Amino acid sequence: MCGIVGYIGQRHATDICLAGLRRLEYRGYDSAGIVTADGGRLDLRKVVGKLDRLAQALDQRPLAGSLGIGHTRWATHGKPSEANAHPHLSCNGRIAVVHNGIIENYQELRRQLEAAGHTFRSQTDTEVMAHLVEQHYTGDLREAVRRAVRELQGAFAFGVVCADSPGELIAVRRFSPLVVGLGNGENYIASDMGAIRAETDRVYVIGDDELCRITRDRVEISDLELRPVRHDVYVIPWPADAAEKGGHKKFMHKEIHEQPAAMRACLAGRLRSADKPVTFENIGLTPDAIRGIGKIVFTACGTAYHAGVVGRFLMEKLARIPAEVDIAAELRHRDPVVPPGTLCIVVSQSGETADTLEALRAMKRKGAKVLGVINVVDSTVARESDGVAYIQAGPEIGVASTKAYTLQILTIALLALHFAEVRGTASPEELRAIKESLLAAPAHAEELLRREDAVVAIARKHFKKTTALYLARGVNLASAMEGALKMKEISYIHAEAYSAGEMKHGPIALVCPDMFVVAIAPQGPTHDEMVGNMMEIKARSGPVVAVAFDGDAKIPQTGVDPAADPRDVAAQPNDMIWVPPTHELVSPVTIAIPLQLLAYHVAELRGEHIDQPRNLAKTVTVK
Ligand code: M6R
Repeated sequence: MCGIVGYIGQRHATDICLAGLRRLEYRGYDSAGIVTADGGRLDLRKVVGKLDRLAQALDQRPLAGSLGIGHTRWATHGKPSEANAHPHLSCNGRIAVVHNGIIENYQELRRQLEAAGHTFRSQTDTEVMAHLVEQHYTGDLREAVRRAVRELQGAFAFGVVCADSPGELIAVRRFSPLVVGLGNGENYIASDMGAIRAETDRVYVIGDDELCRITRDRVEISDLELRPVRHDVYVIPWPADAAEKGGHKKFMHKEIHEQPAAMRACLAGRLRSADKPVTFENIGLTPDAIRGIGKIVFTACGTAYHAGVVGRFLMEKLARIPAEVDIAAELRHRDPVVPPGTLCIVVSQSGETADTLEALRAMKRKGAKVLGVINVVDSTVARESDGVAYIQAGPEIGVASTKAYTLQILTIALLALHFAEVRGTASPEELRAIKESLLAAPAHAEELLRREDAVVAIARKHFKKTTALYLARGVNLASAMEGALKMKEISYIHAEAYSAGEMKHGPIALVCPDMFVVAIAPQGPTHDEMVGNMMEIKARSGPVVAVAFDGDAKIPQTGVDPAADPRDVAAQPNDMIWVPPTHELVSPVTIAIPLQLLAYHVAELRGEHIDQPRNLAKTVTVK
């Protein structure tokens, strides 16, 4: 998974491409490159490493030209190296391509091209495209790309330029995202809107097997038979600076702090007050269809999967629909039984995750209706779902997902309430209590952000440790899983989540003073058992960071008089994270915030690359 960008106009293409790549760096950052067309030739710079290295290379040897394409890479075929970095050139160096996706039949194509005399310089799948276009080029670049694409199997978004055709930029898409940005006397391509939002708010969202010929003044879109395709202009609804850090040191920090406002936007128009029913538009389900749902299967990857774990609880408890949650990469391998009336809820920030898409398609083939809970508008999951509930988080750039998670849960909670209201499966009191908690979530989130310093103090105590356990029960098992995922992906501390009930079946052997245990114990049906489990950890000298609701008197309080009852003191958690009380079923929305902050500050104290953790990319478009 990689990011591509391109520019044609009157300004320096390098400036626009480099700025666009900076906003796409979340998609991959092991190497990068830019090529421009100038004076009848192509000029190329590429480097191994992050974009700052490319910027340095461009400072030392600037590129001229007002037509260019750029790329930031997350290695799939071939290790990160200068040779494997994009753009890739044809043998004669007059055609260049950038690519996001995977060409599945590249080995066969490479053999054929080598037999025809082409010389390859890299181990990538992408390079075949440069040679294929060269093979088919007879003076019409779009035609050469069209013919080349017909030989490809797999997923791709390509940008292609040719030294002999300096007035045009060709782009084509199958399964990998691509937008064309519209300017005045200049146009752009990019893997996502955020990359070019600083330049324009008007884009075409390109569909599969669509081919674009882009000049300074014109964008022609066609299918692969060259039949014209008409798109409405999509006006990007968020401001130009939404994809900037806005005074925060890291995107992750900014996105954690954006949660109160994002929650309000997500609730707006759907839940106005605790007395009113929840309303949704475009979810593709009539009241009769909702009444007819016999089973729900949530499927997703990573953080989005954890939102599905919460979703299973909400749907069963409120809508009384049997619900399962499956890791997308596993779902298709186990040949699930999909009875008529099954609704598959696909959760994804990007809407482009390869495993999630495969699971979606497998469930559709088996006859399930699909509802996408997605952030990125018009993404592939959105297009392939029968209905969509957008979480409305705005751009999420930090590789570690934060605001998307809380808004995924919020959106699923609203769906569960809506289903419960249509099906008449929850009491008015329960519906009201949950609605009140959801309406209070933005204010609770603000309060938790005001308490950030308390989390920093806890991070200071534990940041040098190498192991952590996150324990919870019930719906907050998802909070433990998500908290542990955040910790490991940005701080590289080995963090595991367990149902606290499972501790005594093995993991308790790990407990010792050198690690720490985050024990999540909000009030609710699992509270007393959690408090007991906390004490079991304390009894084995395990340092406990407890997460509990404000004023919880059942947690042995820190600061009590040691003389009062020494047993109480021994049972006290070493640290407390206090959270405003809320309904336990939706408490994962707010409990996520201090756990995100804990991971963030531990990683910062350890000096890690928070927005670009090693080996990771924001959107995993490979299986
Ligand atoms: O875009 P998606 O929500 O489909 O992405 C799913 C996962 O790849 C993603 O949540 C990943 O686990 C994040 N890095 C977690 O912070």
